[in-house]
Amino acid sequence: MKENLLIRKATLNDIENLLSLHQENFLQKFDSPWNRKQFCDFFQQDWGKMFLASFYEKNNFFAKFHEKIVGMVAIMETPESIEILTIAVASNFKRQGIATQMFEYLFQKYIKKNFFLEVVESNFSAINLYKKLGFIEINKRKKYYFSQDKKESANALVMRFNLFQQTGQ
Ligand SMILES: CC(C)(COP(=O)(O)OP(=O)(O)OC[C@H]1O[C@@H](n2cnc3c(N)ncnc32)[C@H](O)[C@@H]1OP(=O)(O)O)[C@@H](O)C(=O)NCCC(=O)NCCS
Repeated sequence: MKENLLIRKATLNDIENLLSLHQENFLQKFDSPWNRKQFCDFFQQDWGKMFLASFYEKNNFFAKFHEKIVGMVAIMETPESIEILTIAVASNFKRQGIATQMFEYLFQKYIKKNFFLEVVESNFSAINLYKKLGFIEINKRKKYYFSQDKKESANALVMRFNLFQQTGQ
């Protein structure tokens, strides 16, 4: 794991950071960033968890440590599987392996489970990430996403990862 990067469970206390991280990342045509109610509802349920990636920066003046939140991932858990509901990395911290480290954390934590996710067919950065991690495409859902004005649609790729399939064990 990259030095100083901490991955921890998110709580309702993190909501302001989570809202801004989601807003800055989900502005494309087929995106819909979570709003305050969606985050609040998520923290009320017992079928999923959210994790944060953050750096601790030392504030010399106060000699205190300041947490800088740079990534988030939300999952839904069933007895057999983990579904990735949403993942985002702060703009200034992209391409530094942060999403990869969040996935590696999840793969270790839920070592025996199948991982599933859906991604809009045009999101090449995310698809590249998932393929690099070892996800394989298992299905395509036609016209699964709609633009805000509902005039345009896009396909979703459904992808799966299983650590034991990867290593052939
Ligand atoms: C997709 C996302 C989470 C990737 O986060 P990240 O921390 O930058 O990813 P990593 O640094 O771990 O990247 C690992 C690999 O993914 C691929 N990748 C990531 N971003 C990429 C990009 N912009 N273009 C092409 N490939 C990319 C590369 O293969 C990369 O490896 P490399 O840097 O050695 O070439 C981030 O771009 C993001 O927050 N996007 C907006 C939100 C989003 O689309 N979420 C997914 C919804 S399904």
